[in-house]
Amino acid sequence: MKKIPLLLFWLSVASSLAFGQLRVERLLTENLINPLGVESAFPRLSWIMISDLRRARQTAFELRVGSDPGQLAKGKALYWGSGKTLSAASVQVPYAGPALESGKRYYWQVRIWDDGGRPSAWSVPAFWQMALLHPSDWKASWIKAGYVEDSLLRPSPLLRKSFALSQPIRSATAFISARGMYEAEINGRRVGDAFLSPGWTTYGKRIPYQVYDVTSLLKTGANAIGVTLASGWYRGYIGFSGQNNFYGKEVSLLFQLEIRFADGSSATWVSDGTWKSSTGSIRSSEIYNGESIDDRDQKPGWTQAGYDDSGWFPVQVVPAPRASLVASANEPIREHERFKPQRIWVTPKGEQVMDFGQNLVGWVIVKVNGQKGQRISLTHAEVLDKEGNFYTENLRSAKAEDTYILSGEGEEEFKPHFTFHGFRYVRVEGYPGEIKPENFTAVALYSDMPVTGTFSCSNPLINQLQHNIQWGQRGNFLDVPTDCPQRDERLGWTGDAQVFSRTATFNMGVNSFFAKWLKDIALDQLPTGSVPFVVPNVLGPFGGSTGWADVATIVPWNTYLAYGDVKVLADQYPSMKAWVDYMIKSSQHYLWNTGFHFGDWLFYSPEDDNDGRAAVTNKYLIAQCFFAHSTQILIDAAKVLGKPEDARSYVAVLDSVKDAFQKEYLTPNGALVSGTQTAYVLALQFDMMPEALRKQAAVRLYNNVKSYEDHLTTGFLGTPYLCQVLTRFGYLAEAYRLLLQDTYPSWLYPVKMGATTIWERWDGIKPDSSFETPSMNSYNHYSYGAIGDWMYRVVAGLDTYDDAPGYRHSRIMPHPADALTQAQAALETYYGKLSVNWKTEPDRLDLDVEVPANTTCSLFIPGQDPATILESGKPLAEVHEVQLKRSSEGYVELEIGSGKYHFVRMNPVAKMP
Ligand code: BGC
Repeated sequence: MKKIPLLLFWLSVASSLAFGQLRVERLLTENLINPLGVESAFPRLSWIMISDLRRARQTAFELRVGSDPGQLAKGKALYWGSGKTLSAASVQVPYAGPALESGKRYYWQVRIWDDGGRPSAWSVPAFWQMALLHPSDWKASWIKAGYVEDSLLRPSPLLRKSFALSQPIRSATAFISARGMYEAEINGRRVGDAFLSPGWTTYGKRIPYQVYDVTSLLKTGANAIGVTLASGWYRGYIGFSGQNNFYGKEVSLLFQLEIRFADGSSATWVSDGTWKSSTGSIRSSEIYNGESIDDRDQKPGWTQAGYDDSGWFPVQVVPAPRASLVASANEPIREHERFKPQRIWVTPKGEQVMDFGQNLVGWVIVKVNGQKGQRISLTHAEVLDKEGNFYTENLRSAKAEDTYILSGEGEEEFKPHFTFHGFRYVRVEGYPGEIKPENFTAVALYSDMPVTGTFSCSNPLINQLQHNIQWGQRGNFLDVPTDCPQRDERLGWTGDAQVFSRTATFNMGVNSFFAKWLKDIALDQLPTGSVPFVVPNVLGPFGGSTGWADVATIVPWNTYLAYGDVKVLADQYPSMKAWVDYMIKSSQHYLWNTGFHFGDWLFYSPEDDNDGRAAVTNKYLIAQCFFAHSTQILIDAAKVLGKPEDARSYVAVLDSVKDAFQKEYLTPNGALVSGTQTAYVLALQFDMMPEALRKQAAVRLYNNVKSYEDHLTTGFLGTPYLCQVLTRFGYLAEAYRLLLQDTYPSWLYPVKMGATTIWERWDGIKPDSSFETPSMNSYNHYSYGAIGDWMYRVVAGLDTYDDAPGYRHSRIMPHPADALTQAQAALETYYGKLSVNWKTEPDRLDLDVEVPANTTCSLFIPGQDPATILESGKPLAEVHEVQLKRSSEGYVELEIGSGKYHFVRMNPVAKMP
């Protein structure tokens, strides 16, 4: 062993004690923890620097990659090593080694150096496994059941295969896809823990598959694979016009199992003409209508070896689809929170109903003991009507009913597999014996995105609003961002997702979720550049609605801001450009005043509107604002991507778009042709007016809000920016008044009415407990939850600078106001935890902040005089990690680095402690 000079050794021990620990944690490959099925030739690697020093910065990193974790840890048999690289980069650093092999697993480690030149230890290894990179890697055939299907019920096909393995297994990987949905088992055990697989993409163009490590499911000797299929989004009822078979009439399976044996040899088992097919207990399954299971039709042991399938039908090999197979790159749908009934009772109509206390999306697991052939049914609903009866009219044609027929063999447990429901209440029919809460469990189902954000404050109603926003996101982020999860719709409405996208980036890690959906946006974009109303597009060749189609620019940009993900911007750039070019082509002299638009959807409009209080905003005025906004985003994206020519030419476009706006919609005195909140909000938010007219336009906006007695009147498009604009133009107190307003229309009105999610309409339930029109009245629609963005970015004050996105340079600027005495927000960024907690007392403001290592933060402390501020009890001048920048506009600006800080700002009259 090489001798380390003793002095050096003690010095390094002493320095690590004195300077604290430096570590690397949370290794991500392509934004995921140890992903299987990576398609990228240069996977992007991210890690978090952990240091208990303040102002800690990474100055260098070293990456190493190998195929054997043991060897890797010894620094041996490396596939690639970056060498010590002088760089602060720690997020999405691309692998830059030799070509990666199809299906192969790679392990990686990183170590870093801080700005004192101190190295960390090597991180614990992480890994990724490559997808099947070449079409020729697929040996499997698409297969379907070989029997004649009951064309009405379309029971779930069961497909099985037995096979023998004669050697000990070292590793095994399954690659699975379906046209339809699938659940797979090997030797009686479930493959993975995902549901509704393979998820929903624009199947006509790309079909996702998943990759599973199934080593522990296989054994030497006899083995069996069993896969259940269902109609799912592929051929089930989808859309509100009663259509099915949208992508095809038949469900089919693609299955490939690759096994490596201990002796180094390998074998592949695939779906092919030798498999067998039958049906089992799942008698029918539809997303909107629910699932029927008949336990008498179970085929016990059918996914295990030794099962006698001699009576089963052969399968048929079907032609491979033309669409490409793509490895899933976003988090799968998994089961999450569980709820027990809080109340079980009989309604005035005599129905047996239970209340799970939360409007959620998923299903109910039910345990039951009964006689063979007994039938129970569970119907799902979001609300009770005025009389307290179970209410399903707002589900429109969706039956949302699961039915179970008992085998009578002891305790049976049922849950559906290939459907989901949006519900809080469940009606139970036919249940034998007493209905006990312990036999019913509601389970929430959503894409397994990491929870990244929390917000809370001193007002419990606002905390409930935040809860509702988060549940709106959970319930509508099932592989595709949907408008609603309960009625016969549940579609990827582009406008809704656009409106909510910035808020979504706070609550959960939605980088991969949006990156996946954005690909479908680009694929489904019409040849003209127009963007469909919903994606995946199942509604036909319609699109181009302002504020909806702008999803093509807004969501990539918000994803870039939240995560610093340049690849999303680069991948989407052609789609973004095509959308802006579409608007240019559709306009005359840059005035876009043609085509169909949803407008400021669901804006305030009173029933008996004799004096014109309805907040109708000219749709083309709105279109012109979003035309400018999308063009601005395109310019910004072009700059980030190094396309100066594009940036220049679209700046000229933007000038013309604003010019046309001013000629058409703005009077010389600064009034807009629509005097609504939404008109002023959009014009101000997107800088549509000359500088000189903006202030007085903001006064008009303020006066408008006042004229509605501190109520908002905005619909989907104005709502996200209303409080932002009021704050920007000095009306913070008014923005707070809107936030705290609790009569209709307002954010807190539904909260006061008992909502546990965000409603589609401001008055989904009216003050007299009657309902809005049942044909469009969802109680789980996230759009109006877009206020969450303002709560995080303004009330608590967490933000990122656009030129150092992903919170590499964060801005913390709390906005205390009389309305609240405390607010906190925390966000797990790609660098680590960024948080703020402020509290006001009569004589002081307390401010706790935490800034992740390897980032900087501009901290704005409300106040005028730096001398009134202490950090951990010391005057600012004595805290060398804090740099005083300036004091202006009611804030003292400090530049700080990583670490935890506790600031106190004494009020002018108060004495310093
Ligand atoms: C959806 C919306 C959507 C809208 C279009 C509705 O049916 O639920 O949220 O954006 O149609 O205006």
